[in-house]
Amino acid sequence: MDSNYHIIHLSEINSTNDFAKELISKQFPVEFTVISCDYQTKGKGQHSNVWHSDKAKNLTFSLITYPTHIQIDNQFYLSKLISLGIIDYLESKKIECKIKWPNDIYYENKKICGILIENTISGTILKTAVIGIGININQTEFPKDIPNAVSLSGILKKQFNLNEELELLLNFLIMRYMNSHKINFTIINEAYHKHLYKINQPALFKDKNGIFEGTVCETLHDGRIIIETLDKKVNIYNFKELEFL
Ligand code: BTN
Repeated sequence: MDSNYHIIHLSEINSTNDFAKELISKQFPVEFTVISCDYQTKGKGQHSNVWHSDKAKNLTFSLITYPTHIQIDNQFYLSKLISLGIIDYLESKKIECKIKWPNDIYYENKKICGILIENTISGTILKTAVIGIGININQTEFPKDIPNAVSLSGILKKQFNLNEELELLLNFLIMRYMNSHKINFTIINEAYHKHLYKINQPALFKDKNGIFEGTVCETLHDGRIIIETLDKKVNIYNFKELEFL
């Protein structure tokens, strides 16, 4: 596939997502402009967490898109297809991973990748989306407070060239994104659920009422997740309202 992206590589920056958003506000860069860096001084994770990544060990980048074909009611589809692009990339390495709702990529019970998408909207459609991705590639030791992290290198026991991996991953991401113009959301949804972590398996969760056992049934168009409890009660959760234990 011809490279239809444009990479801006920085040695150090606070956050590639913040840099990308600033770029959009100043000059509306061409779609698929990618901001990547060796090190983020303020890498952002979900829920105001910090994203930790050792210098020049992993991929930390933001992909700029203008997903005007996606209605805000369906905005979680962007997350779904980006998760699937990452799964495609990992499958190309013969690694089978799962999508842990809403935005994490897991290998067995360890996190290999996190996604942070920051959107702007115009009327009822998405106008801009900065797709921030942190994927662990060559780092094999992680801080004690991140006990469940894993990397490509930790799984496959070899080192990778980061530039090559970025290009491979971008091709998979852009392929999924471009296809989303053509195929309907049902197909994306099916693929997403096929790779959903703990789907149809009893698992432990925590919500505002405490710890309980239940089963992941499916996710809704708006990204909420449906969990069936042991006593067959159906609960629907928004982001941040449910924790997997
Ligand atoms: C998460 O799992 O909490 C989401 C992590 C997202 C991290 C990436 S690294 C590149 C981009 N820039 C950021 O500041 N965050 C995202």
